[in-house]
Amino acid sequence: MRVLVTGGAGFIGSNFVRATLGRGVDVEVTVLDYLTYAGSRSSLFALEDQFKFVEGDIADADLVNHLVSEADSVVHFAAESHNDNSLADPSPFLRTNIIGTYTLLQAVRTYGVRYHHVSTDEVYGDLALDDPAKFTEYTPYNPSSPYSATKAASDMLVRAWVRSFGVRATLSNCSNNYGPYQHIEKFIPRQITNVLTGVRPKLYGAGKNVRDWIHVEDHNSALWRVLESGEIGRTYLIGSDGELDNLTVVRLILELMDKDPNEFDHVTDRAGHDLRYAIDSSMLRDEFGWQPHYTSFREGLRSTIDWYRDNRAWWENEKAAVEARYQAQKV
Ligand code: NAD
Ligand code: TYD
Repeated sequence: MRVLVTGGAGFIGSNFVRATLGRGVDVEVTVLDYLTYAGSRSSLFALEDQFKFVEGDIADADLVNHLVSEADSVVHFAAESHNDNSLADPSPFLRTNIIGTYTLLQAVRTYGVRYHHVSTDEVYGDLALDDPAKFTEYTPYNPSSPYSATKAASDMLVRAWVRSFGVRATLSNCSNNYGPYQHIEKFIPRQITNVLTGVRPKLYGAGKNVRDWIHVEDHNSALWRVLESGEIGRTYLIGSDGELDNLTVVRLILELMDKDPNEFDHVTDRAGHDLRYAIDSSMLRDEFGWQPHYTSFREGLRSTIDWYRDNRAWWENEKAAVEARYQAQKV
């Protein structure tokens, strides 16, 4: 199988490429990535001779048509992915997440190529903190931020292209990922690298907001199940019952790094900050027998901390610029 992976130099995409090449099955991988601030070829370190890398934009129709014409399937990760950036400047989110997805859909439609669309549970909006409910495949879309609104728009385009043009597509909406190679602007790696550089972790507001954490390797093992056995037109929810509030996560990071768990700062809350995400992944588990490997968040977090400690060269040069961006955004 020839797989075109968009966004393969980003966090989840690079882990997907590594896992795919390690599966020992006959797969030819091509990565299409624009190498924005969030993408890095160093995330694919030591794999260079095992796949083809193309630097380019998913909104470039000529390039996309050419690459899709040579593929059997497309797994679409490429996106602008950070909520805080989408509040500061929504425009690249509209272009990449909406126009980029449209460009890919037109190409897979033209060449009859199987397509999988990687999306987020944030399209459903948020849940109340005291609500026992979780998101299911039937929860109505209700996005809150420019990021989640553009991801919701892209999901809707996929559904429309399936129904109107018979595109062979599946979708998945996953909860918050953590693990190696995550950009240090994101919550968990930002706090780990803060501690590693002698800066106090930064918690938005009171830290009561809840995220449903899944290790990136578990996300990717679920994606392979959907790619191989998913029903065309269907949406699959991916999560591993990892609900925790942000305050608990910050304290756990500090504890695992042998620091005082109270040594963090409360900073200005994010505008429109979603309260709680929670995924009901029983459909995926029941239909495919899928199970997450990382059932202990504590152990997954410990190995993630070790990875950032052991791979300073991967993130260190960017730390000052990321924190300067946060300073400018006043968070
Ligand atoms: P990321 O920001 O780490 O990586 C995005 C990648 O896309 C980067 O390599 C970047 O260079 C590339 N890219 C951006 N614009 C591009 C363009 N116009 N053309 C080609 N490449 C471009 O993101 P991530 O966290 O790995 O997320 C990947 C996907 O998974 C996204 O679609 C995101 O919405 C989704 N998702 C993420 C999470 C999460 O917790 N990180 C959870 C659920 C779903
Ligand atoms: P983030 O990693 O940006 O993911 P998302 O916005 O997609 O959930 O943030 C995760 C949670 O952590 C979210 O509730 C915002 C919060 N947060 C902080 O408290 N401090 C930080 O420095 C960052 C980046 C996020």
